[in-house]
Amino acid sequence: MVSFNDLMSRVRSERVELCGASGKCIHVGFRDRDGEVGWLFKTMTREGRDGIAHVSIIYGPKGCGKTTLAKVFANVVNELSSEANVVYAELEEDVVRALVPGIGLSEALFRLSELAADYVHPPVRIVVDAVKFALNVLRAHRVEGKDLVIVLDEFDRRVLEGLRYSRPRDLAEGIAKFCQNRTSEGFGRGYLDVGGVRLRSLWVVLQMSDHAVMSDIMSVGGLVGKGGLGYFLTWNLPRDSFLGLVREVAERTNSAHIDEGLVWQLTGGNVRALAELALDHGWNVDTWVNDALRRIRRELADPVVGDYGIFSDYSEYVRKLARRGVGPDDAILTINAHEVAFKANVLISVSGVRKISQLPNEPWIGEDYAYQLPIYYWALRAMVKRGTVNVTPGDVIDEVTQ
Ligand SMILES: Nc1ncnc2c1ncn2[C@@H]1O[C@H](COP(=O)(O)OP(=O)(O)O)[C@@H](O)[C@H]1O
Ligand SMILES: [Mg+2]
Repeated sequence: MVSFNDLMSRVRSERVELCGASGKCIHVGFRDRDGEVGWLFKTMTREGRDGIAHVSIIYGPKGCGKTTLAKVFANVVNELSSEANVVYAELEEDVVRALVPGIGLSEALFRLSELAADYVHPPVRIVVDAVKFALNVLRAHRVEGKDLVIVLDEFDRRVLEGLRYSRPRDLAEGIAKFCQNRTSEGFGRGYLDVGGVRLRSLWVVLQMSDHAVMSDIMSVGGLVGKGGLGYFLTWNLPRDSFLGLVREVAERTNSAHIDEGLVWQLTGGNVRALAELALDHGWNVDTWVNDALRRIRRELADPVVGDYGIFSDYSEYVRKLARRGVGPDDAILTINAHEVAFKANVLISVSGVRKISQLPNEPWIGEDYAYQLPIYYWALRAMVKRGTVNVTPGDVIDEVTQ
């Protein structure tokens, strides 16, 4: 049995590719994440899991590092442990189509032998895809007798793109029920039977960052507990680790004199935002902030102003923001009109879930809600102070540095 310390020292030696949206990439050392890896490890290896199948939903801001963490964890566990296997699966189109409710993702994925006979409704193609996927997982990884972890990444995006005729909650419920059923059979005998393969335990992890998908799933209160379903929040990198990464990226891009404090205040430890700033914008804070400002006007202001919006014009919008305040817990009612702020992934809910990352004590993080990137918070503050949505990058940076 691999120890957590061995696992962690291997994790610390991992290198990952950091890429901008333009496709420019550099290699950097994998940073931090001790707490998150510890939680994954503990959950995977905890006592009394024999014969248990359960599902967890991990969500957090886009670009905070969910995919990278899952891949690193999978690499390291698969290399070091003979008792556990982590399968990282990006949900490709054909797999997604296989997850149709009614088949119940469940049976679709795992009850191989029964599938073709039992489900006459869905197109044969779906059944074939499901069988292929499940067979690949179970065969390619020698999982007999082991703890199996399956990470289904980008659950939200794939669901939104590929399954227009389904709701995220149906899929999540399908998986949870599947786990519940396997557990009630397997718990007493200490192992699970999944499609004829004996597992010691099964843990399905669904990863997502889209708040709209997440709240759809969370709106089904009855889901919690079924199949051990739990919701977990992960976050951007903490300040010190992030600044270490900022320095590494600065060095690799031959850029001296980076204002680290400002980078933290604008990106809040979001690694994707750092990649965009450093690699796409060549560390030019003004153009990076300008892009963000354009996004805010397009995603937050435009949709709520005008004939169909709830504000007659932009100044009314800004006045309302000023009255209510732009702290994440206050601003929600103003900028969340028609769930705009959620759909645009500007705000995210941070309460009612277990936090597997530590959230920094910063003004862009509230009790119930948080800005996914602090730039949104500073930009709204600048707008309120100047009484207009048309603020400049300079105005925003003034707000931060005051
Ligand atoms: N702990 C980390 N240390 C260094 N770089 C990281 C770390 N986590 C993520 N990255 C880099 O940040 C970028 C965004 O991370 P990603 O895992 O794609 O985020 P998410 O899946 O949450 O959207 C990736 O290019 C990745 O290489
Ligand atoms: Mg991802």
